Amino acid sequence: MVRNERSVEGVLERIFRSAKATKTKGDVAKYIPELASVDPDRFAISVCLSDGRQLSAGDVSTPFSIQSVSKVFTLAIALGRRGESFWQRVGREPSTNAFNSLQELEVRQGIPSNPFVNAGAIVTTDTILAGSSPAEALAEILLFVQTAASDSGIRIDPSVAESEKLSGHKNWALAHVLAAYDNLAHSCELTLGTYFHHCAIAMTCEQLARSGRFLAGFDTGPQLVRASSVRLINALMLTCGHYNGSGEFAYRVGLPAKSGVGGAILAIVPGKASIATWAPGLDSNGNSLLGTAALEELSHAMGWSVFVRG
Ligand code: DON
Repeated sequence: MVRNERSVEGVLERIFRSAKATKTKGDVAKYIPELASVDPDRFAISVCLSDGRQLSAGDVSTPFSIQSVSKVFTLAIALGRRGESFWQRVGREPSTNAFNSLQELEVRQGIPSNPFVNAGAIVTTDTILAGSSPAEALAEILLFVQTAASDSGIRIDPSVAESEKLSGHKNWALAHVLAAYDNLAHSCELTLGTYFHHCAIAMTCEQLARSGRFLAGFDTGPQLVRASSVRLINALMLTCGHYNGSGEFAYRVGLPAKSGVGGAILAIVPGKASIATWAPGLDSNGNSLLGTAALEELSHAMGWSVFVRG
């Protein structure tokens, strides 16, 4: 078993080669038309280590839509506001249904299971909108991501946001159910408009890996969130970050992580590494198929897991 951090590069190369050779890559997300045309053969992996090194393999400089990975950043911002009422509006339990399940929201009478299912993330966006216009809220979210990644060039792709605005019928339905249960302070249009735009943040794999350093506990200059919030976010990423595939992901990889339907995964090894993968093909739960396989191989090769001594 390889445990020496100097060998990360070799492991990444091996992972890249096996990803390229794999025939079963999963299906790209089609319910957002702009994402349906992404090349399923893309693959990238990037690792930021505690000593400041960043090691990568594959298509690491191609921007992609981070989609639900953005929910990690909006949760961090919402928790930073010390909003006492936040946890009265959103649960902290893993979901047993799909990430956009209307049934689950209805059964729970308008209280989403956790901040990472779509309904929970829509409520999170709604809390960030308190006292701000959508443009101001989006500027705050983008600045947070840019600061986390140490890169002021990160942008929102408006065509992806527009595409989801026109085709995201389930999200419109979820927002209306939230409003029906009095769990939305702003209009569905304002809240979803903001939500679609933060999901449409485009980043490269290297930028995404850097954006997770604050969750690994690295000192990267400005302190983005309190240590107590990092602890909560990592706990939720572990238990809810892959929706109803979170148990399987914890079993295989053993790390807090958040997936997005653009094919990204951000995974955290507390104190040791922030890892991003990008492989657009998804499994039946909407999580990246080859990204999960890559993280499984990397975590085993390096002995990285929150469940064993590293
Ligand atoms: O709201 C949606 O459906 C998308 N903007 C984000 C969903 C997503 O990324 C689910 N993750 N795997």
